[in-house]
Amino acid sequence: MRIVLVGPPGAGKGTQAAYLAENLSIPHISTGDLFRANISQGTPLGLQAKEYMNAGHLVPDEVTIGMAEDRMRQDDAAQGFLLDGFPRNIGQAEALDTFLSAHRLKLDAVLDLEVPEEEVVRRIAGRRICRNDSSHVFHAEYSRPVKEAVCDECGGELYQREDDSEETVRKRLAVYHSETEPIIDYYKKQGLVTTISALGAVTEVTERAMRALPRG
Ligand code: AP5
Ligand code: ZN
Repeated sequence: MRIVLVGPPGAGKGTQAAYLAENLSIPHISTGDLFRANISQGTPLGLQAKEYMNAGHLVPDEVTIGMAEDRMRQDDAAQGFLLDGFPRNIGQAEALDTFLSAHRLKLDAVLDLEVPEEEVVRRIAGRRICRNDSSHVFHAEYSRPVKEAVCDECGGELYQREDDSEETVRKRLAVYHSETEPIIDYYKKQGLVTTISALGAVTEVTERAMRALPRG
């Protein structure tokens, strides 16, 4: 199965992607996580991406599309994948369509996570991420680690993302509305979109998402 997860910053894409990918036995491909891994390894790609990310802007398509395609070409993605944070504008959506048709593949579903703006701000303000594994995501109120600033799963240090400052979050939301939301209409025309509420407990949202996916 090939799925695109779309939604504003802080909607819970990463949180849901981890569960969905496990349930469906497909890799979770997050362009944000790929950029952050490059930044922590100090690669040229990471250096390039960092300034855009910290300003809340999109990393240019020339960098992003190649990186996403390289990841989708890896062996573990041959049977399917869950894309989180890609595509993020019409140019990327068109590039993905071209990539898929060149490989005689197609998308099965686009899940659109809907969440009010006040909730986005609350979720991002409290988010804490593990330094060892970006899929270990906590929240200072909603899913507190047993020991403050320590990951329950691996003992790693929990930190707050540099682009999670209030000012940058506002910028990221504006970019989401102007650049990313148009891809929802783009995929609606292909009959692929299901919009689900991302409010409620994490497990409830996962159940909604699983029900929204085509069977098989
Ligand atoms: P990216 O890493 O993709 O960030 P984002 O889209 O802004 O999304 P977030 O990671 O902020 O939120 P999320 O929806 O995953 O929420 P999460 O599950 O963590 O991108 C970052 C930057 O990289 C971009 O700004 C851009 O610069 C660059 N970039 C990435 N991809 C790009 C692309 N394709 N093109 C160009 N540039 C690109 O949840 C948030 C918090 O809420 C957590 O604390 C979590 O515990 C909590 N939470 C989750 N679900 C619930 C729930 N149901 N109830 C209560 N709390 C919950
Ligand atoms: Zn951890």
